Amino acid sequence: MKNIVTARAHTNIALIKYWGKADLALNIPTTSSLSMTLDQFYTTTSVAFTQEPSDSLILNAEAVDATRVGQFLEMMRGKYGDFPKIAVRSENHVPTAAGLASSASSFAALTVAMFGLLDLPKDEQEMSRLARRGSGSASRSIFGNFAVWNKGVDDQSSFAESFHNEDIGLSMIVAEISAEQKKMSSTKGMQLAQTAPTYAAWVEKSAHQLEEMKKAILHADIEKVGLIAQDNALGMHEQNRLCREPFDYFTAQTQAVIDFAKTCYRQGLLAFVTIDAGPNVKIITDRASERRLLEKFQAEFPDLTFDVARAGGAYEYL
Ligand code: ADP
Ligand code: DP6
Ligand code: CO
Repeated sequence: MKNIVTARAHTNIALIKYWGKADLALNIPTTSSLSMTLDQFYTTTSVAFTQEPSDSLILNAEAVDATRVGQFLEMMRGKYGDFPKIAVRSENHVPTAAGLASSASSFAALTVAMFGLLDLPKDEQEMSRLARRGSGSASRSIFGNFAVWNKGVDDQSSFAESFHNEDIGLSMIVAEISAEQKKMSSTKGMQLAQTAPTYAAWVEKSAHQLEEMKKAILHADIEKVGLIAQDNALGMHEQNRLCREPFDYFTAQTQAVIDFAKTCYRQGLLAFVTIDAGPNVKIITDRASERRLLEKFQAEFPDLTFDVARAGGAYEYL
């Protein structure tokens, strides 16, 4: 039996979003979703058996609350049989809880590491199902490049799979507006959004957008990818503003970056946005426009930090 296993998984950014749960306990989503895995942002997680009385988490060299990780490990014990307590040590090479998908890379890395520690067969479908229980978006971070999470109807049928394991030349310029932890977690935010009177219409539109998005990716049509992704993401944030207890992840700077991307597009540059559960904006473009667009944004927003991310790889054992 191994004593310690280390795994890495990358974050992913959804081009068609997961924003709602049909089953809260199982993380069965209301929509299927599609994402690109990023090369620049990832989590590295080590797991080891311990004699300590509880599961523990050290995140970025600091002992932190292990409730969510503990619940995940308890779920694994229920599924695969009891095992000793686990000491988890994790490094986020991505801001934590800032809408840059730390829950995706971290629960994917934890799942993969635990599969190694428990010597479970490295079945990607099963890993994706498991990661989904930790955080829905983590189901997609098992895979490199593009992944589709088919929503399914129950635990068995809800998992992600590789969609197009190719780099189609899509670049994302990440505008880091704030690395602060959000006040409204994704888990809570999406449940509120589901109370919006327009939510059912967003879900219905999303199914159509997913099919169009798949075609656009297969044709490496980045303009089409960007247009659909932007429409889908802005629609998601609309639900937050229209729900029972309205809230908004956007700041004034978020809106300014979105507006500037739209200006760039009108000027003939490929520039579209997608935004997750946080103020940071990911600008979708292609390889040829990446440099020019980055320079334009840096000149317009000298106080912001920008990172360029491209399509990244699947999980790895280290
Ligand atoms: P994000 O936009 O970063 O995905 P979420 O609200 O979805 O934000 O999830 C953030 C939560 O994910 C954190 O509060 C924490 O519970 C969990 N998390 C993030 N990174 C790690 C990690 N490396 N190990 C374990 N749990 C993590
Ligand atoms: C806006 O996967 O973080 O990033 O399943 O409750 O952990 P939980 O939520 P999470 O939600 C991600 C929401 C999103 C869109 C997406 O990644 O599809
Ligand atoms: Co998350």
